[in-house]
Amino acid sequence: MQDPTVVEVEFMRKFRDRRREKGPIFLTEENILAVFDARVAQRLEAANYADLTMLDGWSDVIRGCPSEPVTWNQLRSGWSGQMRTLTGVDSLRQLAQRMDHLLSAEAGRQQDLVWLAERVSIESLVPAIIGGLKPAAHRRVVREVLTKVAFVLSDIDAHRNPRWHKWTMVACQVIAGIEVRRELKGRASGKRARQPDLTDAVVDLIPTLGIGRAVDAVTALLTAITGSPGAAAACLLYELNRQHEWRARLEAELAAVSLEQLCESPMRVAPLTGRFVKEILRMWGSPIMIRTVRTDIDQDQISLKAGQAYAISPFLVHHDDTDWSDPETFDPDRWLADGRRAQCPHGSYVPFGWAPKSCIGANLGMAQLVLLAHLMCTRYRLQVPEPERAKMAVASVVRPMDFNGAVLHRSQ
Ligand code: HEM
Repeated sequence: MQDPTVVEVEFMRKFRDRRREKGPIFLTEENILAVFDARVAQRLEAANYADLTMLDGWSDVIRGCPSEPVTWNQLRSGWSGQMRTLTGVDSLRQLAQRMDHLLSAEAGRQQDLVWLAERVSIESLVPAIIGGLKPAAHRRVVREVLTKVAFVLSDIDAHRNPRWHKWTMVACQVIAGIEVRRELKGRASGKRARQPDLTDAVVDLIPTLGIGRAVDAVTALLTAITGSPGAAAACLLYELNRQHEWRARLEAELAAVSLEQLCESPMRVAPLTGRFVKEILRMWGSPIMIRTVRTDIDQDQISLKAGQAYAISPFLVHHDDTDWSDPETFDPDRWLADGRRAQCPHGSYVPFGWAPKSCIGANLGMAQLVLLAHLMCTRYRLQVPEPERAKMAVASVVRPMDFNGAVLHRSQ
């Protein structure tokens, strides 16, 4: 990538250089099959995860006694059902209020804006995964997720110490696991109230899953929000700060709609902001996802043995100029139905990964970004003293770096 405002870690640079030399499908020196063709990746993912079942829990492994198989799809369909409630007006209003509260508490403080975006995104999402916790228990769960985030961000941010983090991460994981187990057991026994959150879908499956695997399922949800939502929120702040013209357009659109109206259907009520969010997720999608082959696969002239690895990449698919016109240009208007750029071929926009392992929180994630844009364009503003220092880092996740400043109330 030639853009001086983008920094790529070495593994990403290597993947990109080889993609350019060898085409979209190639074998790396490390024996990883890189599959950067969107359609082939889609079929490969479908084949690899066709029969995904939940792994045995620790107690099953120790007892040497496997549990009754539960398909991953059973869990996913329970979560998808709850997602309809979580993207309803009331839940979105509460999500926006939680973000507002956090931004208000941090207003005026100079800080790393990536970390602020992560906190705002994650602290406000945790109640959608596991709600109704007492404040101390909520804080313990949030701390676990943020410790994992800090570990992910330590890939190129030298000031975060990964060795220290590994142990903190284990300790936080154990403590959060205790809270999750307590909540699941409490709801299953009727001692704690059922909640409109994703944990509730797991409660109904406890008789088949067993409590160990039920805890693992909720922990998997908490792990799933460690990478993408916070990084996307940080990218949103970054682009709002540097795309001056777009920020003015968003401010005009969002000043004309109330938060209440926006919560009814964020992408429809604020279409221009919706396009901005879609373009953020295209430009700055997940860099590389490495998979282990679960069963032998022979298709699309690809032959893979169980245990081998393959790599897929929403980021590289989104920057492929055979599918996208002018892919390195940030242009939300490419999403207009009659956009001046050619529409991308079906299947080339994959910010939420590929079925059957694609993101269950896609609509909630997009809604959260539109709501954050509303807050940042109507109630708050960014103050970035040295904007020229900020760059975009393409590493374990794509997010800005050296992006420091403060969020201020508009009245400040
Ligand atoms: C803009 C925000 C988000 C983005 C860009 C995003 C992106 C992704 C991607 C790329 C994957 C696939 C990962 C893989 O295949 O290895 C994924 C999976 C997942 N996401 Fe998201 N996500 C977002 C928000 C959320 C939210 C808000 C939730 C839940 C509250 C969520 C829950 C999950 C879960 C549970 C999975 C795993 C699905 C499975 O393994 O079957 N995500 N997400």
